[in-house]
Amino acid sequence: MWSPILLCLPLCLVGFFCRSVQAIKLNIDDTDNTKQVASKLAWDLVSFYTGNNTGDVPGNLPSPYYWWEAGAFFGTLVNYWSYTGDTAYNNIITQALLHQAGSEGDFMPTNQTRTEGNDDQAFCAFTAMRAAESNFTNPPDDKPSWLAMVQAVFNQQAARWNNEQCGGGLKWQIYSFNGGYNYRNAISNGCFFNMAARLARYTNNETYAEWAEKAWDWSRGVGLVGPEYHVFDGTSDTNNCSDLNHIEWTYNNGVFLHGAAHMWNYTNGGLRWKARIEGLLKGQQVFLSTNDSSRNVLYESACELAGTCQTDQFSFKAYLARWMGDTAKLAPFTYDSIMTRLRPSAEAAAAQCVGGKTGSYCGMQWTTGTYDGTTGVGQQMSALEVILANLLETTRGPLTGETGGTSKGNSGAGTGKDADAKGKPKAITTADRAGAAILTGLSALGILGVTYIMIS
Ligand SMILES: *[C@@H]1O[C@H](CO)[C@@H](O)[C@H](O)[C@H]1NC(C)=O
Ligand SMILES: *[C@@H]1O[C@H](CO)[C@@H](O)[C@H](O)[C@H]1NC(C)=O
Ligand SMILES: *[C@@H]1O[C@H](CO)[C@@H](O)[C@H](O)[C@H]1NC(C)=O
Ligand SMILES: *[C@@H]1O[C@H](CO)[C@@H](O)[C@H](O)[C@H]1NC(C)=O
Ligand SMILES: *[C@@H]1O[C@H](CO)[C@@H](O)[C@H](O)[C@H]1NC(C)=O
Ligand SMILES: *[C@@H]1O[C@H](CO)[C@@H](O)[C@H](O)[C@H]1NC(C)=O
Ligand SMILES: *[C@@H]1O[C@H](CO)[C@@H](O)[C@H](O)[C@H]1NC(C)=O
Repeated sequence: MWSPILLCLPLCLVGFFCRSVQAIKLNIDDTDNTKQVASKLAWDLVSFYTGNNTGDVPGNLPSPYYWWEAGAFFGTLVNYWSYTGDTAYNNIITQALLHQAGSEGDFMPTNQTRTEGNDDQAFCAFTAMRAAESNFTNPPDDKPSWLAMVQAVFNQQAARWNNEQCGGGLKWQIYSFNGGYNYRNAISNGCFFNMAARLARYTNNETYAEWAEKAWDWSRGVGLVGPEYHVFDGTSDTNNCSDLNHIEWTYNNGVFLHGAAHMWNYTNGGLRWKARIEGLLKGQQVFLSTNDSSRNVLYESACELAGTCQTDQFSFKAYLARWMGDTAKLAPFTYDSIMTRLRPSAEAAAAQCVGGKTGSYCGMQWTTGTYDGTTGVGQQMSALEVILANLLETTRGPLTGETGGTSKGNSGAGTGKDADAKGKPKAITTADRAGAAILTGLSALGILGVTYIMIS
């Protein structure tokens, strides 16, 4: 099965015939084959990592990838290990997470805090949560545990819940000197909801479930989760959250779906959560191709066909796919409808992984049947995650403290002196502020630019 690739490899190395490399042959019904394909894509994914290079630090990806995506990247590698059992990347995962979590274990490292948003911090926490839920090797005893890292982030974000406008909710940004401070986005609030739901299920502590209910109700109330369960990108507290930016991104749907699946599971099949899960699955229609040749294949409808997706956006389908896989485990009534999406998506994704120096790098566009000529962390993570999710029948699903998870918690984490609960900056200098203003100014312009293109 691998011979076409192996035979072609020497030719590729000298630069001939690379374009004629056969697409990877994925057979989803064959677990070994699926794992082999995943292993190939993971190898290509890790080729982007520079955290081991002299002069770099563990846990970073090079420009243009932002820090949060590096956090998410290690989540994909934890997931890769948990689905395949391949420990090849476990050392770099542990090293990177411990480095970026910092001594407080709250993912507020001094090199990142000045530009860090709630969503950025949460994506790193998701990787730690995934480690806890899959019983990934625990850190040494003198370091914060995976679970305590998530609790630290949760505690800090709960303290940032802002009742001054909009009747509650989280702002996108942590610090007022960052652009986007008035934006209340679906991803920051969805991430907080998601963390609360997972902590409730993992620890069986009802306080987290109450927060999950509160974050869900608020998101519904202001319309971030709309009446038909479409999840809209954000709203602004300058007008008391009365207008919505209606762009829909795959990961915004996914983050709420996944949290709702945890709540359904935690409440042992609560009917309210069932209706919400069904609504969100229906809301995914906007991301599913209806073309005959690619029916039910996922795509990032806000930018993909127009070819305007930017660095972060290339990675969003990765999280949606990961979270749909978990949802099928946590809320088994969703299994059939989720698999009718994950299967064709994985097949279509694999069919276009013919790029780059190995001939197995993936592009962004799964629905077209042809490789779009791009490579990148987001594209690679997305294809890998959607293929991994198809292995869900061979796995246990997210563990809890009662079903085999061994991460020890600390419910008071993150409220210590360095990262106080009000989320005050740790020793941020004027120079940092100026740098941050410029950086976020630029990225806000980028976001507005995309928004403008989308709307016009
Ligand atoms: C990167 O660092 C980790 C942790 O020290 C080490 O185990 C791994 O072998 C290194 N990987 C590479 C490719 O150098
Ligand atoms: C912060 O960034 C600097 C410059 O890249 C680097 O030398 C330093 O090791 C980083 N510190 C941490 C804790 O990652
Ligand atoms: C702002 O929005 C919240 C939540 O929708 C609402 O409860 C509150 O009355 C609004 N405040 C004003 C001044 O309109
Ligand atoms: C469906 O097919 C049409 C016509 O070929 C094409 O323009 C469109 O981009 C396709 N949709 C997707 C989601 O690929
Ligand atoms: C909750 O999730 C676990 C793990 O996937 C699963 O074994 C269990 O059956 C689920 N609970 C319900 C009520 O379906
Ligand atoms: C969890 O990991 C620990 C330590 O590696 C191991 O002893 C235990 O058997 C694992 N439990 C499960 C359910 O995988
Ligand atoms: C439950 O979580 C809350 C919030 O972090 C904490 O204050 C409380 O002590 C926890 N309860 C238990 C029994 O751990």
